Amino acid sequence: MLDIQKIRADFPILSQTVNGKPLVYFDNGATSQKPQIVIDAEVKYYQEINANIHRGVHTLSQLATDAYEISRGKVKVHINAKHAYEVLFTSGTTHGINLVTNGFASILKPSDEVIVSSLEHHSNIVPWQMLCEKTGATLKVIPMNEHGELILEEFDKILSEKTKVVTVNHISNALGIINPIKSIIDKAHAVGAAVLIDGAQAVPHLKPNVQELDCDFYAFSGHKMCGPTGTGILYGKEEWLNKLPPYQGGGEMIKEVTFEKTTYADLPHKFEAGTPNIAGGIVLGTAIDYLNNIGFENIQQYEHELLEYATKRLLEIEGLRIYGTGKNKASVVSFNIDGIHPYDIGSIIDKLGIAVRTGHHCAQPIMNFFCIPGTIRASFSFYNTKEEIDAMVEAVKKAQTMLS
Ligand code: ALA
Repeated sequence: MLDIQKIRADFPILSQTVNGKPLVYFDNGATSQKPQIVIDAEVKYYQEINANIHRGVHTLSQLATDAYEISRGKVKVHINAKHAYEVLFTSGTTHGINLVTNGFASILKPSDEVIVSSLEHHSNIVPWQMLCEKTGATLKVIPMNEHGELILEEFDKILSEKTKVVTVNHISNALGIINPIKSIIDKAHAVGAAVLIDGAQAVPHLKPNVQELDCDFYAFSGHKMCGPTGTGILYGKEEWLNKLPPYQGGGEMIKEVTFEKTTYADLPHKFEAGTPNIAGGIVLGTAIDYLNNIGFENIQQYEHELLEYATKRLLEIEGLRIYGTGKNKASVVSFNIDGIHPYDIGSIIDKLGIAVRTGHHCAQPIMNFFCIPGTIRASFSFYNTKEEIDAMVEAVKKAQTMLS
């Protein structure tokens, strides 16, 4: 059992009032809040060891380098990568995906095919479209059903020897559906395709095991898992990272530079040109420690309770429809109320202190599928409570009365 009040005390922002009301923060899918230990670790870095990494022989540079590499090691253990050099620091999930699509530009041929799913965030659609435009390869899409679940029989039909890459999110940001990624990875591998998993929405809720999943790439962001913004990780299997060309040229990613030719550094440095977000990378390790101390099993169990409670309470509201009714779900509820624009509900409940995301959630194809402009999305974290859900339900009812 989690002591939620004790956990909430770790997050200074949660005790604020917004618009004169106690803050109810249900926009965790967009970004999570940060515990004091993470905030302190960022301050401590700048107060005590700020220096550039992998460059200086001086003590501070060594301390910063050590802290950065210790954090990489923590991520390696957390996701169960085989080697620490398969863990690349990025600025976030989008950066990780673009690093991969950029690499595949020199691999794909016009006769090749790339498969994405209909549940993707724009950040896992647009880079692949750009890649296909560049290479002449064809983009295909795994369709979904009315519950927001991917139709695997249709995936089987579009998968072929021509498929070179398959990409899908672990959890849908817009609907909260957890995708059957192990089965998708195995099917893709059976035809020799590489698989990238967008884990942005999964890592706040679960601990991915990349070796067990056997995915080729797994991208995620630090800021959704209690870490700082501008941090992220791209896991890539060694063989793939060796095959892909560097994403950016610059300092630190080289072995030797002459005007005739440059040779590249070994992994992971080949993909880490320039001065990275050093403080952020180090503090991401602190965030991972924090989450592991709470325990992902505890997090999942409690968040599932929140999901069930919110679903039940919201469905008491007349004319309310939930999108994403599949069985396997993370703690996200996306909904609309008959005849009312989601933006209007979102704006009114914000005045009552409730923070939700409204709109298409950077997943316009999902909204097009349901023929709606957007939804109201409440995404819960382990620091949320049932009382906060009650407050949201009352606020939504009030907004409905005002707008009807
Ligand atoms: N991808 C983030 C979300 O779903 C920003 O809100």
